[in-house]
Amino acid sequence: MKISVIGTGYVGLVTGTCLAETGNEVLCIDIDANKVKQMQQGEVPIYEPYLDVLFERNIKASRLKFSTSLLEGLEHGEIIFLALPTPEDEDGSADLSYVLGVAKEIGKHIKNYKVIVDKSTVPVGTSDRVKAAIEKETDIDFDVVSNPEFLREGFAVDDFLKPERIVIGSSSEKATKLMQKLYKPFVRSGNPILIMDERSAELTKYAANSFLATKITFMNEVANFCEKVGADVDMVRIGMGSDSRIGKRFLFPGIGYGGSCFPKDVKALHKSGKDNNYDFEILNSVIKVNSAQKTILIPKILSYYNTDLKGKTFGVWGLAFKPETDDIREAPALYIIEELLKHGANINVFDPEAMPNVEKKLGDKINYTSNMYDTIKDVDALIICTEWSIFRTPKFNLLKERMKAPVIFDGRNLYDIKEVENEGFHYTSIGRKV
Ligand code: UGA
Repeated sequence: MKISVIGTGYVGLVTGTCLAETGNEVLCIDIDANKVKQMQQGEVPIYEPYLDVLFERNIKASRLKFSTSLLEGLEHGEIIFLALPTPEDEDGSADLSYVLGVAKEIGKHIKNYKVIVDKSTVPVGTSDRVKAAIEKETDIDFDVVSNPEFLREGFAVDDFLKPERIVIGSSSEKATKLMQKLYKPFVRSGNPILIMDERSAELTKYAANSFLATKITFMNEVANFCEKVGADVDMVRIGMGSDSRIGKRFLFPGIGYGGSCFPKDVKALHKSGKDNNYDFEILNSVIKVNSAQKTILIPKILSYYNTDLKGKTFGVWGLAFKPETDDIREAPALYIIEELLKHGANINVFDPEAMPNVEKKLGDKINYTSNMYDTIKDVDALIICTEWSIFRTPKFNLLKERMKAPVIFDGRNLYDIKEVENEGFHYTSIGRKV
């Protein structure tokens, strides 16, 4: 099939590349001419495991092409994916100006039947607005479909190629058939393609992300409470997660959820509730608790140093909001660093992928080190913010040798408490029995 993808951000790029992988002819459109040039030369503009391999293969096979021309995109695809940014507005709602702007352009230039697919995470009712924006400009037949993505950063290629479910919100039989044909190769395992109305599809995405964010936040509160009553959250987590109704996944406490999706989507669903006269009270608490959780290590650090951090040096391992990504949007590490700087501390940092992004943001306010053992040279303490695999089994002897004092504040509960204490460290983590 001929497919166009408008917007080559994270979602658009993964969608376009993976659709080319099953033999479709994919044209990806972006207004950023430099980025398009870079992609035409085979360079992947984001870090996402395995994307480079698929990218190269499909470009070589001429199934994956790039252009800056929206008109070319409109001409090319029988299905046109909108994978455009929906940034957070000041009031927490999703800004739809990119999506509606492109919809208007489509309306102006459409020449024959097309299926327009909303792939971006958009509030309930957006497909109707996209439809109205196109209809205003043309009499040509078209359909708008909502097809939310459930890709996790770091696993996006795998999630796209082997999805647990595909959600299609469509009220047109013709469009539904085309979408089913497109996705058939991805669900040979028997996983479902769920067809529903557009509004339900739009809400499914927000509800799924908000539920997961709530699950994490609930565990973070359980962890905080464990500390008050002398219980161990690791035990509680395993005890709870063994109930298949609860499940083992997404129960790991830490320094809060971050990234470009959960924070934005929880706020947007809450705002969408307000707009529709519904007070989504649970989400209000999730937002509040997560915001405090990001800096939950700070009072622990302050208490250890009797509130005086002036002149102290901390080594921070992990800056990305989670492992296997260079994404630092809403990353807890940045909130922690900001607090430590306010208290007059010096900071050394290391992250396997995210350092260039942090350097762009924080410049020379902190020191960037090229490996994890340089980060902790002469530091008063190590702070762990992201659970990259490389941090799970450090050479504790080398740490002790290089650090000014053997002190670890761990925001991701990476180590066995007894083991690390036997190594001679003062060790603080989240919600666990000391
Ligand atoms: C999330 C969803 O998992 C995807 O299904 C969805 O498609 C995507 O948002 C999106 O809307 O585009 P992602 O933001 O890539 O994916 O990251 P997750 O792996 O879900 O992690 C989100 C946050 O939760 C991270 O900050 C992570 O550290 C935190 N987390 C996760 C925990 O604190 N504890 C856990 O047990 C799990």
